[in-house]
Amino acid sequence: MQLISRILRVAAAGGIALGLSVTAAQADAIEDRQAAMKDVGKSMKALAAMAKGEAEFDAAAVKSNADNIAAKMDAAKALFPDGSDKGAKETWAKAEIWTDKDTFLAIMDDGIAAANAVAAVGDMDALRPALGGLGGKGCKACHEKFRRPKE
Ligand code: HEC
Repeated sequence: MQLISRILRVAAAGGIALGLSVTAAQADAIEDRQAAMKDVGKSMKALAAMAKGEAEFDAAAVKSNADNIAAKMDAAKALFPDGSDKGAKETWAKAEIWTDKDTFLAIMDDGIAAANAVAAVGDMDALRPALGGLGGKGCKACHEKFRRPKE
């Protein structure tokens, strides 16, 4: 009898620990995906500065920024686990992400493909349309549908 209650106690403690770790994982997912997106934004800014002529065209910098965007977007696919529609940290992710995950992930893949196209450009004339494609098919397409505005 004593042994059974001890097992139950251990199981309950384990259950609580598991619950806590799930909550922590969800809070981390929100933080991690926002950090990934922030980094995507930083690389996008560097690319836009070149496209606008505010910074000199540099094929190596184009590639490293575009590669970073593709990598962070790829990582972001795993940072929207079930239950992370809310958490300790405020999130701007819309509930539709979890009711229409296929569309969400398809747009992420479009964004990755568009970033890979940017990584491959060799001159300014090619950069502008490639970057336009990334902004439209990637950032804008997803944010309009799946992100609440920050205001
Ligand atoms: C497939 C969807 C998707 C794509 C593609 C996407 N984003 Fe996001 N982005 C989101 C979501 C969802 C959030 C809100 C995350 C949250 O608050 O939990 C976000 C948030 C952000 C943020 C705010 C991060 C913060 O500080 O909270 C920035 C900046 C950002 N995205 C930039 C970009 C840029 C630039 C691109 C394109 C190069 C892009 N995103 C492409 C879904 C996407």
